[in-house]
Amino acid sequence: MPKVLFIGDIVGRPGREFVIKTLPELRSKLGLDLIIANAENSAGLAGITATIANDLAQASVDGITLGDHVWDQRGFSEDIKKLDFVCRPANLPRICPGHDHLILKCKNFRVAVFTLLGRTFMKLKAECPFLTADHMIEKIGNNADAIIVEIHAEATSEKVALGRYLDGRVAMVVGTHTHIPTADGCILPHGTAYLTDAGMTGPYDSVLGTDVQTIIDQFLDGMPRRYTVAKNDIRLCGCIVNINEKTNLASNFETVCIRDEHACKVEETKEV
Ligand SMILES: [Fe+2]
Ligand SMILES: [Fe+2]
Repeated sequence: MPKVLFIGDIVGRPGREFVIKTLPELRSKLGLDLIIANAENSAGLAGITATIANDLAQASVDGITLGDHVWDQRGFSEDIKKLDFVCRPANLPRICPGHDHLILKCKNFRVAVFTLLGRTFMKLKAECPFLTADHMIEKIGNNADAIIVEIHAEATSEKVALGRYLDGRVAMVVGTHTHIPTADGCILPHGTAYLTDAGMTGPYDSVLGTDVQTIIDQFLDGMPRRYTVAKNDIRLCGCIVNINEKTNLASNFETVCIRDEHACKVEETKEV
């Protein structure tokens, strides 16, 4: 029964160094078959570079997804073409470079992964996530046994609605982007594991990964500022889904939060 870890948005050097330090041991300790990570904030707070993507792959990340910060690092729109373990959101305009999904293999089981950007309160131009999900499921067809969908969105209603829309058709719908883990993890009535937000992997002594005072000051006077990544209370947050090989749906689902001071000790695992 394939066991897949999904890691929420990796933020800056603290987030990626913690992932690199923790993951190889965590993989064997938890018996993980596949590891997927959203790394849209892994370069500072904005975007990713080819070097960082390769470093994460070396640390046993099998597939990397991205979000609205996909193009923030200069040159990445060229580099992404050479990274076969990285996909950009599937509902970006079709002419955008990069894979729109990944197919990851563990033994003889194939798991497809794709990300959809929400359209409510989001700036990046994107096609309808619901219709794109239909299109992607049809496009993937028999090339994968099970499908994991990431909904990278601001509005909880859009995320919940997409989870319900895809219930019974994919193994998991997991939300990212808001950087705050939610407590609504469940297996929906037709067998799809669902979580509104996996939370971020980075410094929680922060405002969504950014230095606290900078954000408070900006709320007070509205003036532009340079953002810096916070440093303390590093956590790896995400979820683990076990996929039933007969139904290709979720058979078990849990959320995970691992704190830096107890590296590799699963501090809080909530089974649902
Ligand atoms: Fe985002
Ligand atoms: Fe993010």
